[in-house]
Amino acid sequence: MAKESKKMKSEGTPLYTIPGLTKEQGAAVAALLQDRLNALTDLHLTLKHIHWNVVGPHFISVHEMLDPQVDAVREMADATAERIATLGLSPWGTPGALVADRTWDDYSIGRAGAIEHLGALDLVYAGVIEDHRQAIEATDDLDLVTQDLLIGQAAQLEQYHWFVRAHLETSGGQLSTAGAQTEVEATRQAGRAGVKRKSS
Ligand SMILES: [Fe+2]
Repeated sequence: MAKESKKMKSEGTPLYTIPGLTKEQGAAVAALLQDRLNALTDLHLTLKHIHWNVVGPHFISVHEMLDPQVDAVREMADATAERIATLGLSPWGTPGALVADRTWDDYSIGRAGAIEHLGALDLVYAGVIEDHRQAIEATDDLDLVTQDLLIGQAAQLEQYHWFVRAHLETSGGQLSTAGAQTEVEATRQAGRAGVKRKSS
């Protein structure tokens, strides 16, 4: 197939939009949602990648914990894309467009232990949730129906983030990944804490 412009189709002004919104407001909401669609698609693919690459003694619990998260996040991506279409614009869901437009790096851990992956996943969820909350703020004066959709998604993502963090937390409430800036750092910190816990 000939290489087309990478410009997102959800950009630009729609020919129609949701009643009660101007076309410009519809365009602004769709642009916010396209970025969230990219994040959610990236997240459900990353969760499957971890599901396939996790190894070690806690394999089955993490492997099985992740599939319901994959399904739920995929549903969120679907609802987000359909909201863009409802707004009169074209949701862009191809892998090439996602990679071209995303502002974050690809997940960086391959085959690794459960705690190591969960350390990295802590950072992944934190990034998605922070950006979702910014989109919630940005829709406050624009479109409360879209805001409601994003709030529901954020609540579910935050619960999944807790599922991950509960594996990384001590009985004193400290997170082994505290202060980590990269997935590799988070993986190392989580792994070291796991070894300490085993030997103590
Ligand atoms: Fe599977």
